[in-house]
Amino acid sequence: MLRVGMLTSGGDCQALNATMRGVVKTILNNSKEPVEIYGFEDGYKGLIYGQFRLLTGDDFSGILSHGGTILGTSRVPFKTIDEPDENGVNKVEAMKQTYHKLRLNCLVILGGNGSLKTANRLSEEGLNVVALPKTIDNDIYGTDMTFGFHSAVNVASNAIECIHTTANSHGRVFIVEIMGHKVGWLPLYAGIASGADVILIPEIPYDIDKVIDVIEERDRNGSRFTIIAVAEGAISKKDAELSKKDYKKKLTNYEFPSVSYEIAAAIEEKTGREVRVTVPGHTQRGGSPVPYDRIFATRIGAVGGKMVIDKEYGYMVTYLSRVVTKVPLSEVAGKLKYVDPESDIVQEARLIGISFGD
Ligand code: F6P
Repeated sequence: MLRVGMLTSGGDCQALNATMRGVVKTILNNSKEPVEIYGFEDGYKGLIYGQFRLLTGDDFSGILSHGGTILGTSRVPFKTIDEPDENGVNKVEAMKQTYHKLRLNCLVILGGNGSLKTANRLSEEGLNVVALPKTIDNDIYGTDMTFGFHSAVNVASNAIECIHTTANSHGRVFIVEIMGHKVGWLPLYAGIASGADVILIPEIPYDIDKVIDVIEERDRNGSRFTIIAVAEGAISKKDAELSKKDYKKKLTNYEFPSVSYEIAAAIEEKTGREVRVTVPGHTQRGGSPVPYDRIFATRIGAVGGKMVIDKEYGYMVTYLSRVVTKVPLSEVAGKLKYVDPESDIVQEARLIGISFGD
């Protein structure tokens, strides 16, 4: 009997179901022994508290295009993994116990950065783990692509595109805040895909006067509006110079709901222009996966399923130079993949006149 545990952890994204379907179909089609799939509910919580459902192939049928996750998810922060829960339960030990009690052969974990750190921890503790790179942020180190990213780019670009017509009608400056606290892949791609005039990402600190220069130059050239795509984690040059401690202090006493509103207030004050902020928020994680993600999820799911069959554990499925392959979890866990300010895509965006506010 091949007993496979599976869980989805952290923020959800559009192609979680498509990826699990790829894994399970591959296992069921290729296993020489009978298979049991244990689906843990709400991420690591299900593994900690032994909450699971025994699933069959039917559960993974008809879900290729369904967003969300049939298993549910939650955030169990890695930094709290060694702290006992409110009832004194040792989370790592509890997860190991569930694994051994069910006599699992391996765990398939679909997760982003924090979840991969826990996956690596479980692997170090001797559990057999196969991980798959999930996140709309595309910030997982060691893979060129994560599933969910292109679906989120689609939603975020549509949001920015819709803003164009109303911005033009009213002659306004519009800020669209795109998800991404630490890295700017999503605002970068969505901004390029939807013709944003300015893109502000955490990796390239902005100067508000440079942003205003763009608005004023567009005014002079007869453009009635300016669209600024701002990452949740965009940071000004001034703030980037603060120590971590002082920047944290600033955020604790922050008078704005987010950085976009701070930028909007500064532009209004300095130019007298009318500025509006739109925050698509969690819509960026919702809805159906786009075809790219369905294909990508199927490919990495198939390779993940094959790793289960071949008993190749301790790896994350990865996509490098257009090849789906694997990388040791220990090499990627805890590292982020940032946008390189000197990268081709940034330079090309600059060539067509997109400003990064620097
Ligand atoms: O990591 C995915 C992500 O959607 C980020 O882009 C965003 O900053 C964060 O999660 C939002 O987290 P939550 O869903 O917990 O509000």
